[in-house]
Amino acid sequence: MANRIPKCIAPWVYLDILPDGVVVPCCSNSTELGDLKKQSLEDIWNGDPMKKIRLEMLNDILPESCALCIQQDETTTLKYFYNQKFSSSIPEVYDMTNPDGSVKEVKIKGFDFRISNKCNFKCRTCWSKLSSSINFETRTNNLGEYYEEPILNIGNYFDFKKMYQDNIDNLELIEFSGGEVLLMDEHYEMLQYFIDNKKQSQIELRYNTNFSTLEYKNYKVFDMWRKWDIRKLEVNVSIDEIGVRSEYVRYGTVWNNISSNIKKLLNEFKTSYHYLENGRFIFSANIVVSIFNVYRIPEIITNLNQIGLITDANEFSNFTLSLEGGMDGGIYDLELYPISERKKIKEKLLQFSSTYPVDISQKLEQVIEKLDNPEETNKDKINKFLEKTNKLDTIRNQNLLKVIPELQCLVDYVS
Ligand SMILES: C[S@@+](CC[C@H](N)C(=O)[O-])C[C@H]1O[C@@H](n2cnc3c(N)ncnc32)[C@H](O)[C@@H]1O
Ligand code: SF4
Repeated sequence: MANRIPKCIAPWVYLDILPDGVVVPCCSNSTELGDLKKQSLEDIWNGDPMKKIRLEMLNDILPESCALCIQQDETTTLKYFYNQKFSSSIPEVYDMTNPDGSVKEVKIKGFDFRISNKCNFKCRTCWSKLSSSINFETRTNNLGEYYEEPILNIGNYFDFKKMYQDNIDNLELIEFSGGEVLLMDEHYEMLQYFIDNKKQSQIELRYNTNFSTLEYKNYKVFDMWRKWDIRKLEVNVSIDEIGVRSEYVRYGTVWNNISSNIKKLLNEFKTSYHYLENGRFIFSANIVVSIFNVYRIPEIITNLNQIGLITDANEFSNFTLSLEGGMDGGIYDLELYPISERKKIKEKLLQFSSTYPVDISQKLEQVIEKLDNPEETNKDKINKFLEKTNKLDTIRNQNLLKVIPELQCLVDYVS
């Protein structure tokens, strides 16, 4: 091993289990490390793919599969985040690791809680593995690949509870990124277990949620969050659109409920909802930027400002613009817009940015880069986009152009 310091600490301390049991290094890297339906966690932890990644990391190489961390600016990468979060483990890595890349014990400090695909939404850019509702629709209408199980759940073949109970003293971070965690019994049971064991100041919770459900069965999520250390709580609400458009793009949304839930949380934590010297409660919006909404980033942010989510209390900066990740062969890519439209969109975004109270040029960087792509629009992709969208519109009794008239330019481009 050439180095004592790995490029990224995640393969020593972090685990991302997908709802179908496949284990990957993190949500930015989809390398299959193993499958809990067929292997034990211990076998996967010291399996060949994991050992290879660890050795590369120790040889100062970021594996090609870490493409997102290679492409992005250092401080916005997950690698940077995990290296900071789990910094105390970095000095231990050299002694922990055998020459073949295996490690002496499974010691999990963080994981992504994607134990089920249970979800009440059918967002246009999402897929069956992360939403049971999409899986059901896909299966009943023969729209593509689907799972036979109505709801995937890793508890069917893996003792998830034992995993977090065995590691309770090590755990520092739990991320929630799909299906919809606020609808999962296992989420509330796990939180209650941590509360009973007084771990609220040890374990940081980072939510991605559609925020449609604050009360589920006998559980009230605010009651549990109130018991948590406020500095260890981060709630990212996924908001790709507002009003009627949100009900189209993120099917299942009732916009009035989402905006009312946001206000309730703001009210609940109003005294903590600002930057604190030694940490903060983070409440922010995650906007997935796709063909459906790139035009509307200014309107979305302005609305979230009016609701009281994005305000000067958080330096107008508590939102993320994430690029849509290339679903269905890239049919939601921004490059589907003709070049002339891309230019118009870019001008609109730059104009908005120039009058925004703080500098958001870095947040917009990737979006602008996409819009600047000089490649001509791919008609084949537009046709595939229209075909899939029309099918879903018929099933859901919706109409793309009625809700998002800006997309007429795509229809014109291919006709
Ligand atoms: C799959 S969801 C699961 C968590 C929760 N149900 C939610 O919607 O926040 C996690 C995040 O992925 C985002 N997402 C959905 N489809 C995506 C895509 N094709 N590319 C990138 N992010 C996507 C969602 O908007 C959300 O912010
Ligand atoms: S709410 Fe989240 S998991 Fe559900 S369909 Fe939407 S993006 Fe996917």
